[in-house]
Amino acid sequence: MSMRFLSLFACISLAFALPQTQVSGGNSYNISILSPTSDIPGTTPPTTGSPTSAAATTSATSTGATDSPTPTFVAGKTTVEDLWAQIEKYSPVLVAAKSNLTDSTKFDLPPNPPTFLPSYLSENTKGLKFPKGFRYGVASAATQVEGAAKEDGKGPSVWDYGPHVYPDLYLGAPDVTDDFYHRYVNDFARLKAMGVNTFSLSLSWTRIYPLGSGQVNEAGLKFYDKVIDEAIKNDIQPIVTLFHWDTPLALSAQYGSFMSMNITDDFNNYAETAFRRYGDRVKVWITFNEPRVFCSQTAGNPYNLNFPSGINATNAPYHCSHNLLVAHGKAVKTYRSLVKEGTIKAGQIAFKGDDNKPTPWSNSPEDIEASNRHADFFIGIFAKPVYIDGDYPTTCKETLGSFLPELTPEEQKLIKGSADFYAQDLYRINTAKAAPNGIKACAGNVTDPNWPACQDGRVEYSSGAPGGWGYGQQADPRSNWLVNSWFAIREQLKYLSKTYPTKGGLYISEFGWAEAFENQRTEQYQIVSDYGRETYYRDYLNEFLLSIHQDGVDLRGVFAWSLYDNYEWALGLTQKFGLQYVNFTDPALPRHFKRSFYAMRDIMQHHLQPEDFNK
Ligand code: GAL
Repeated sequence: MSMRFLSLFACISLAFALPQTQVSGGNSYNISILSPTSDIPGTTPPTTGSPTSAAATTSATSTGATDSPTPTFVAGKTTVEDLWAQIEKYSPVLVAAKSNLTDSTKFDLPPNPPTFLPSYLSENTKGLKFPKGFRYGVASAATQVEGAAKEDGKGPSVWDYGPHVYPDLYLGAPDVTDDFYHRYVNDFARLKAMGVNTFSLSLSWTRIYPLGSGQVNEAGLKFYDKVIDEAIKNDIQPIVTLFHWDTPLALSAQYGSFMSMNITDDFNNYAETAFRRYGDRVKVWITFNEPRVFCSQTAGNPYNLNFPSGINATNAPYHCSHNLLVAHGKAVKTYRSLVKEGTIKAGQIAFKGDDNKPTPWSNSPEDIEASNRHADFFIGIFAKPVYIDGDYPTTCKETLGSFLPELTPEEQKLIKGSADFYAQDLYRINTAKAAPNGIKACAGNVTDPNWPACQDGRVEYSSGAPGGWGYGQQADPRSNWLVNSWFAIREQLKYLSKTYPTKGGLYISEFGWAEAFENQRTEQYQIVSDYGRETYYRDYLNEFLLSIHQDGVDLRGVFAWSLYDNYEWALGLTQKFGLQYVNFTDPALPRHFKRSFYAMRDIMQHHLQPEDFNK
């Protein structure tokens, strides 16, 4: 790792309040740069070298280049091929082996797994139903499942660049991953067996605009035509996210992507192309996935490679937030005018937030304030402008000062009201304790390790209960942020729906579990016996039902992350979140159902209105 990235990373951690306990992997921080050796308690260092799928074969020859690169892009001159060549100078982009799963709707559904949890555990929700029309689904993202990184004219994103050019920072590249690109027909057939009525996918911007703007790629557009049609054919409603972190490399090299206001027009143009093409079939749109996570990392490799003047690693996350909000606002405006003029069918649009309002560590006013501040910095910084009044929370403005660009009156007007429903990726709730030296001192000191939210980073996650207890059942230690916190879910849903009420209701747009040490299991029966994940889903679904029936929360849908194991960002194929196991060592990339797949199916079949369960 070059010194440049080491020092850059240090600055970013400081500026966007990444907790001291940050590790490689994790929902809030899951796209962080890997440390060369693991510093995670209870784990061994990640294996060196890139575990790539056995389905992969090389499409080019590596020249073994080792210099420290910045991609070159000259507008009007640099081609997609030039950009790929800059990547393949370091290592070849792999392609999937041909498989008989392509276009196949055949699969074996093994008999139900042996019973695990006693039925009295769900006694309190017996007979309760999810409301009519409830969206039950799974979620995915283009980079994480598609593969075919270089196929049919797709241009490179920053996620094609970073892992190839800095292989020490990533456990592999997403060249092939699950090869959804070729195997989606089989994948939908399998999903139907789970009874889902919804599939949340993202489009790859560079499949549609290989250079981010300019020439559109018809082959890329056709691919999503086929995917959307296949979903609908299976009675599965597609929900489409426009941006799940895969910034076009060309735009990053050209003007610093989300560091620049230029991104707003390029994003809007891409969004408009997608609305016009798929607006007849797609009724629910998401502009951005987890902007807070994305922007917290955007000053570093691979999210951005180029700072325009006046932007540095310290203020970059806030310029990103600002530009992204404006990009969201513009795209929503475009969407609504296309609907209004009758070009596309009416639907709904929003963005997906993440994180949570933590449980205060104690009843002390300072701990309660720490929890409120956390909610402002992690949720409110995007949600308040969109859902309430067009402007950032006061805490954020006061603490961040000139780091946070002001939203002009025109921008506020554009952003306010730019969402039809509220979507939150809600994996877990954590705890908040005031920073050790007090919130006031911390908030005024940009070098304080807990600045700007000013909660004590040491007790946020796993060690989050007073008395030295863990806060709840822990996931894989490499996702130390993830705790089965079912006991705090109802309060959270009450908070979200009260703070950001919408006519379109609330969606849990992602939730899921990284089973502890799943990656170290060697026997298939062990891998598919994911008791921790089964428990997690059972617990959360139970709480969702109670939240609807006892708290009156307008919850309209929940999407599990993820349909199968996939490319978990810097952790590559090694961190598993799937309801299905994918054997990446077999060239056919066979999928196998896990216990959790059956658990979700059975619970939802029991609690959905019969017509909402996809038979
Ligand atoms: C989410 C993210 C997904 C996935 C998941 C599990 O934050 O949107 O892409 O990585 O976390 O870590």
